[in-house]
Amino acid sequence: MRFRVHTLFAAIAALLPALAIPMGLSASPAAANEVVVGGTLTTTQQAPWVVALSSRARFGSARSGQFCGAVAVGPRTVVTAAHCVGTEALGVSDWHQLPDLRVIAGRTDLGGSAGEELQLSGIWVDPDYDQSTNAYDVAVITLAQPLQDASAIPLAQSSDTADYQAGTPAEVYGWGDTTGRGGYPSTLHTAQVGILADSACEAAYPGGSSGTYEASSMVCAGVDGGGKDACQGDSGGPLVVAGRLVGLVSWGNGCALDGFPGVYTRVSAVADLIAQHM
Ligand code: ARG
Repeated sequence: MRFRVHTLFAAIAALLPALAIPMGLSASPAAANEVVVGGTLTTTQQAPWVVALSSRARFGSARSGQFCGAVAVGPRTVVTAAHCVGTEALGVSDWHQLPDLRVIAGRTDLGGSAGEELQLSGIWVDPDYDQSTNAYDVAVITLAQPLQDASAIPLAQSSDTADYQAGTPAEVYGWGDTTGRGGYPSTLHTAQVGILADSACEAAYPGGSSGTYEASSMVCAGVDGGGKDACQGDSGGPLVVAGRLVGLVSWGNGCALDGFPGVYTRVSAVADLIAQHM
């Protein structure tokens, strides 16, 4: 008996490194359960285009099953991160196999039942999405019904270069980890960060386990010294400049760490593709 117990422990110990590798990887691009660090409370009335992705079957019914953010860009269209609707996040290879996958709009407090929960009719994932670099981390969700409790935000276009100038103030929104250690709030948060120069992002992320910064499809944002950032569970949610959607929360090394800014999908680089799939 004792021998068997020890054998079991040994087997679990032997498995741990194997488990730690995928978990470590997912913690940067795809951990589907972290919120905004260093932010303040806000509401879906103030930010009516912020919506949540949910599956109670997969993520539990506390916090309405929220696991990622998303953004309303049309009455029946929301955008999110590709990694939010991939196999690792959903636990199934085809989203149809997760029948309670929903978009929740108009619910500041996920502990309540305000707003609406909408079924999906389709998901388009950017075919250029690259799981190893996190490039082109964008997906377009078509809803089965039009949104009543959300209003669309305009997409930054490739001509909106001023929105991406270093130093431009931007706001990030989400229901993700507020602590960097798995502290999930039930209410929507926002933090003000600043757009960073591509050279700074390339220096922070030259290529490594958390990802590689590629200015063609990414933009990064943060604050000097760290302390304000998106975090796990915020993925797919909006980065907003002057009322336009400039980024989608995608990845980073940890959360709010000095020298490691948050990396976002560069919306202007995919705006035409998103429009084609609306
Ligand atoms: N990959 C995370 C998610 O799925 C988002 C991480 C953002 N990290 C950051 N430091 N900005 O929720």
